[in-house]
Amino acid sequence: MKLSIIGTGYVGLVTGTCFAQAGHNVICVDNDPNKVKLLKSGGMPIYEPGLDELVRINVKAGRLHFTHDTKEGVDNSDVVFIAVPTPPNADGSVDLSFIEGVSREIAAAMTSYKIVVDKSTVPVKTGEKVAETIKRYCKAKVDVDVVSNPEFLREGFAVEDFMKPDRVVIGVASERPVAAMREIYAPYNAPIIVTDINSAELIKHAANSFLALKISYINAISVICEMSGANVQDVANGMGMDIRIGRKFLDASLGFGGSCFPKDLSAFITISQELGYNFGLLKEVQRINSEQMDRFVKKISETLWVLKGKKIGVLGLAFKQNTDDVRMSPALELCQRLQKEGAQLRVYDPQAMEKAKTILKEATYVSDMNDVAEGCDALVIATELPQFKKLDLERARKALTHPIMFDGRNLFDAKEMEHLGFIYKSIGRR
Ligand code: UGA
Repeated sequence: MKLSIIGTGYVGLVTGTCFAQAGHNVICVDNDPNKVKLLKSGGMPIYEPGLDELVRINVKAGRLHFTHDTKEGVDNSDVVFIAVPTPPNADGSVDLSFIEGVSREIAAAMTSYKIVVDKSTVPVKTGEKVAETIKRYCKAKVDVDVVSNPEFLREGFAVEDFMKPDRVVIGVASERPVAAMREIYAPYNAPIIVTDINSAELIKHAANSFLALKISYINAISVICEMSGANVQDVANGMGMDIRIGRKFLDASLGFGGSCFPKDLSAFITISQELGYNFGLLKEVQRINSEQMDRFVKKISETLWVLKGKKIGVLGLAFKQNTDDVRMSPALELCQRLQKEGAQLRVYDPQAMEKAKTILKEATYVSDMNDVAEGCDALVIATELPQFKKLDLERARKALTHPIMFDGRNLFDAKEMEHLGFIYKSIGRR
């Protein structure tokens, strides 16, 4: 099918590229001419495993095109996907101005019937507004069907998630766009659930909030484990073996972050409030998450006492593994809090250092993870990168002025670390 994707960020670029890989003809539209130029010249604006290769293949095959002109995208497609940012406002609500702006642009460009699909994460009832807006601004007075088709991609695994989805959610106001949507997703052999638009929008906020709740739940359990001398990983394993619960998203940590969970939680709380419901449970999820960071910072400052003038090595800057994304990164927040206390930082991340440099200015950026500990008073693990498990521990122990490690992601075995001579402090484990 002929598709256009408006917005070439993490979601839009992965969506467009994976649709092209499935054989569709795709135009990706972005209003940033530099980004379009970069993509046209074979460059990549983001790091996402496997994506660059797929972009190359599909551009070469003539199935994937880039433009900054929305009209060109709309004219050359039957189905137009919206994948623009929906950033948070200061009060926790969602800034929908990009969605509104793009809806007007699509309307102005339309000269024939189109299916307009929202992929961006939006509060329930946004689809109604998009449909209203397109109808209002469409001079050609042609028909439109608005569809909600939320994305469930994890950064760092987005291509894999797109190619093998657990489910595809299609929210519609009538039967008319359903066949086309099924055809678009047919190559992926995924279960498809068709709902009304409001339910589809709610599925996204409800799913992300539930996952965040799962993490806060295990983080609260980690506090009880520390107080009682239990081990949070054993508790998570035991809980997770109940198939109704499942082991995934039960890894205690210094807190969740990223551009999705914190924003979606706030947005869901706000929209629930606007609809007349006080979603106190989700406020508690937020509280536990920010307290988890406070507890970790306290753990470090209680051990090292005065942080002013202390040298601390930090492994990980991205908000999670496999990405260069530092938006709302707990690792970065931790670094900033340690700096505020006067600590000097030596930091490393395999993908995120360039992006981190624009925010975390005073730190020393080190190009090899095994050099980070050099001359430091302590080493901190802040992101759950599997490669940190391969750290040369013997070398790190010798390089540190005192062999102290704070592990905010429980990457190492506590007993083994003590055996190696470390003072090792992790989350929810003695
Ligand atoms: C999340 C959802 O997992 C996706 O399904 C969704 O599509 C996406 O948001 C979105 O709304 O676009 P993502 O933000 O890429 O994906 O990252 P996750 O893998 O969900 O991790 C989020 C945060 O939770 C990270 O900071 C991670 O370190 C933390 N986390 C995750 C934990 O602390 N413990 C866990 O057990 C799992």
